[in-house]
Amino acid sequence: MAPDMSYSLLTRQLEALLDSRDWLTNSAQTCAFIMQQVPDLNWVGFYLQRQPELLTLGPFQGKPACNPIPFSKGVCGATARSRQTQRIDDVHTIADHIACDAASNAELVVPILCGETLWGVLDLDSPLRGRFSAADQAGLEALVEVFVRCSELPDFSLAW
Ligand code: SME
Repeated sequence: MAPDMSYSLLTRQLEALLDSRDWLTNSAQTCAFIMQQVPDLNWVGFYLQRQPELLTLGPFQGKPACNPIPFSKGVCGATARSRQTQRIDDVHTIADHIACDAASNAELVVPILCGETLWGVLDLDSPLRGRFSAADQAGLEALVEVFVRCSELPDFSLAW
């Protein structure tokens, strides 16, 4: 099956799975689903902007991870600053990459927006160098869109 076709099936399956509007339930289900369905991952999880310019660890699958991550650091911080997906073939070439698990070699981080505000990011790590293709990026961005569409995202910035 072509990669884009399998991601189109995954988006439909995720949409069916996310039958609650609850963002916490849906974010936990989304990372568990991706970990089960997308091969060769060692970590998948959400980091949330619950304070200004700081990413706080949310639901995830994998080893305990670094927390918190400022916008100024790492691949997650670069995603939060640029609001663009970061697709890294070899994390060891990134000077300020934050290593949470020595097994990680490739990384994909997708921004999540709530209106004008960066709500958080979805971070995926793989032990395989070059694991994430442009088709994986498009497929995972589509899965994040499903998560956003199916969830009531709280506006964390109201409490700042
Ligand atoms: N590698 C990330 C940190 C988060 S962990 O991979 C779970 C980064 O450089 O921002």
